[in-house]
Amino acid sequence: MESKFYIETWGCQMNAEDSEKLSGMLKKLNYTSTENKDEADLIIFNTCCVRENAELKVFGNLGVLRKLKAKNPNLIITVCGCMMQENKMAEDIKKRFPFVDIIMGTHNIQMFPSYLKEVKESRKSILEIWDKEEDIIEGLPIDRESKIKAFVTIMYGCNNFCTYCIVPYVRGRERSRKPSDIEAEIKKLVGEGYKEVTLLGQNVNSYGKGLEEEINFAGLLRRINKIEGLHRIRFMTSHPKDLTDDVIKAVAECDKVCEHIHLPVQSGSSEIMKKMNRHYDRDYYMSLIKKIKEQVKDVAITTDIIVGFPGETEKDFEDTLSLVEEVRYDSAFTFLYSIREGTPAAKLPSQIPEDVKHERFNRLVEAVNRICAEKNKEYEGKVVEILVEGKSKNNDGKLMGRTRTGKLVNFIGSEDAIGKLINVKITKAQSFSLVGEEI
Ligand code: SAH
Ligand code: SF4
Ligand code: F3S
Repeated sequence: MESKFYIETWGCQMNAEDSEKLSGMLKKLNYTSTENKDEADLIIFNTCCVRENAELKVFGNLGVLRKLKAKNPNLIITVCGCMMQENKMAEDIKKRFPFVDIIMGTHNIQMFPSYLKEVKESRKSILEIWDKEEDIIEGLPIDRESKIKAFVTIMYGCNNFCTYCIVPYVRGRERSRKPSDIEAEIKKLVGEGYKEVTLLGQNVNSYGKGLEEEINFAGLLRRINKIEGLHRIRFMTSHPKDLTDDVIKAVAECDKVCEHIHLPVQSGSSEIMKKMNRHYDRDYYMSLIKKIKEQVKDVAITTDIIVGFPGETEKDFEDTLSLVEEVRYDSAFTFLYSIREGTPAAKLPSQIPEDVKHERFNRLVEAVNRICAEKNKEYEGKVVEILVEGKSKNNDGKLMGRTRTGKLVNFIGSEDAIGKLINVKITKAQSFSLVGEEI
């Protein structure tokens, strides 16, 4: 009988891609995937630790597996991902959840098939975390979720050490993939019918450092833009400190590069930006926004914002609100500051009380949502190109796709349109999406 696996993934696209690799390796071993934990022979939890909430969810879900394992002793349980790279976390999981069979980190997922074999043969558990990143391993099989748009990692790790953030500790230092490897992967995807790629990295603007070949992110965009048959190029994330004029120019000039820049600001107060070690201030950030809006026609700008960083005063928070009003973001991910042990900000005095954080958070979300709805309204009556991704999540028989600016559009259409670029007229704007009709 064939074996079935179930993967649950928390966190960002880095983890999503690792899960696609694990799934690729498992399919090579003749496993098939299942959405149902109860019928799985293998369960993998790919964890995130960027905020405390993410960790609490993992603990909760692991508790539930205890029962499943009791029912089916042959079930193999694996826990991996960023959380396992945290100091003492893997040992802690082992102690609290002794029924877990394999614990591995972010730097050794390529070892998974051999760990799995060992566990099956010996029925002994494995705990292996590598402290340091290895060289990039090319050519791992990858089983992508979509057949239309693909995420392609162009660099791993992060060197920025923003004072609140744990990512550099759990993902290691920055390493860029060779442009030829990236190009070959994208050409292969285009050959398989993919229309869109999103280039991924914690700070794509510092792409190319340390490579033999001299290339920067703008150069990479220009190179990928030449790939025939590819229709759309997106990228994430841009760190403002490294967003050069050349990158803005490349976005404006390259026809396939979509008019959407995700530019996390984190706070609107120069004082807090400094304490966060972001290497820019409000004036510099606003000068970038101005340049982007001038040069990239009809661009959408989105961001990440943290509320309640240690020492944030009411005035600092008001600076964040006023920046949001000035930039008029198309959307923003908003987060409550979460203490991460081992990061410099965790040791700062004047942590903000939870009730103050929440009160500020609600005010911020009100502003972000109001502006998002207003920006969506501007689309009413316009004709836009969308890439049709599949059926609408609302289960209403409609299809869904995205504009080049990243807006979600629901519309009535035939399923033949899935995977195609079509024009739709926007008939109605909703708070977080648009409704259109095919023309
Ligand atoms: N490399 C990207 C984002 C990585 S994490 C960048 O620099 O923009 C995604 C987002 O999580 C961050 O942009 C930040 O807004 C948020 N985040 C990271 N650490 C956090 C923490 N300790 N508490 C709250 N939010 C956090
Ligand atoms: Fe974290 Fe900053 Fe690196 Fe982004 S750039 S991953 S926020 S340390
Ligand atoms: Fe989480 Fe790791 Fe991404 S900590 S946000 S999954 S890099």
